[in-house]
Amino acid sequence: MAGRHGRALWPVVLAMYAAGSGGLATHPRGGAQAGLVARAIRHSTFVLHAATVAAMNVLVTGGAGFIGSHVCERLLGAGHAVWAFDDLNNFYDPAIKERNVEVLRALGKKFTFVHGDLTNRAALDALFGGAKLDQVIHLAARAGVRPSLQDPALYQRVNVEGTVHLLEAARARGVKKITIASSSSVYGVNAKVPFSEADPIFSAISPYAASKLACEALGHVYHHIYGMDVAMLRFFTVYGPRQRPDLAIYKFARLITAGKPIPVFGDGSAARDYTYVTDTVDGVIACTQREFGFEIFNLGESQTVALHELIALLEKSLGQKAIIDRQPLQPGDVPITFANIDKARARLGYNPRVKIAEGIPKFVEWFLQQR
Ligand SMILES: NC(=O)c1ccc[n+]([C@@H]2O[C@H](COP(=O)([O-])OP(=O)(O)OC[C@H]3O[C@@H](n4cnc5c(N)ncnc54)[C@H](O)[C@@H]3O)[C@@H](O)[C@H]2O)c1
Repeated sequence: MAGRHGRALWPVVLAMYAAGSGGLATHPRGGAQAGLVARAIRHSTFVLHAATVAAMNVLVTGGAGFIGSHVCERLLGAGHAVWAFDDLNNFYDPAIKERNVEVLRALGKKFTFVHGDLTNRAALDALFGGAKLDQVIHLAARAGVRPSLQDPALYQRVNVEGTVHLLEAARARGVKKITIASSSSVYGVNAKVPFSEADPIFSAISPYAASKLACEALGHVYHHIYGMDVAMLRFFTVYGPRQRPDLAIYKFARLITAGKPIPVFGDGSAARDYTYVTDTVDGVIACTQREFGFEIFNLGESQTVALHELIALLEKSLGQKAIIDRQPLQPGDVPITFANIDKARARLGYNPRVKIAEGIPKFVEWFLQQR
């Protein structure tokens, strides 16, 4: 794959490779020699040395959103040209997304914002036709477990049909490399903790989780049939600056500072593996620098935090006590998420750094500046 701003991206510049299991490294455009190398290091991951990764044209779907805007910022900082594609829908206040886009524009780098809807194939074709894209990072989705129960068809339309449109548009233009957001929710009520990529995942308990499961299956299809290089990333509750306002940490911070009760579903023992957004971005970027064939990775901190512990951390950082409004457990909520990240460590060099006790004060600092 040729970088559009200079040297080739895909030549076999294998400064190193990290051994791992369960994956076949394929080399879509490397010719016979590369094929031999690929066969020789079966079950390994090609790592493109950072210094050899030429500037690329990268499409980030959902680039105006929480994680997407951070990914765009990191890519722009590294000298890549970035297209952010987003429909700025009102799942939460679109003004927040517009502000994220302004932050990216203000960096004064090679940034293009495209206002469009994933479910509109023509919009995607126009984008792929106009920009000579090297890679796609697919983060656009209808997110959120509970809202997916209100409008399950919308979640399937955007997350499943929209993903098909994107994969088709990429295939038609010969864009071979795509990194796709999945979710820890695909594990459903998993009896075994921590969750590993090899665990059976047929116990989804929300339409959102089912839509992400379908995305993973589609990623495999496009790898198998068309030789696309696909990484599926199971994010575990991501938080940090620009966090979605519908997520618990943001919602709790808003209610605590307003002196209003916070709804706590269940007895407060439900536990989550919270991931600071810069760690998530590290994992996403690592995927853009490697070839896998097809792989799934957990991206979490591999540490669980009970809801009552999270509230205590927020109270400490905000300097205010929370008023608890205890509610019954909600349908679709899982009791625990807990990532085994051995595979991401071995294959991506993923090494999450920001523990929750450090991340919450960072989030609160940003949150207080917004008001
Ligand atoms: N934040 C988390 O904790 C978390 C956890 C697991 C998985 N994920 C996944 O990570 C990705 C990013 O999540 P986020 O938290 O940044 O959410 P977000 O809602 O802030 O970002 C998603 C973006 O996609 C855009 N979008 C939605 N539908 C679209 C459509 N039809 N066409 C074009 N754009 C559309 C939205 O406008 C939004 O800006 C999503 O795929 C989500 O499912 C997030």
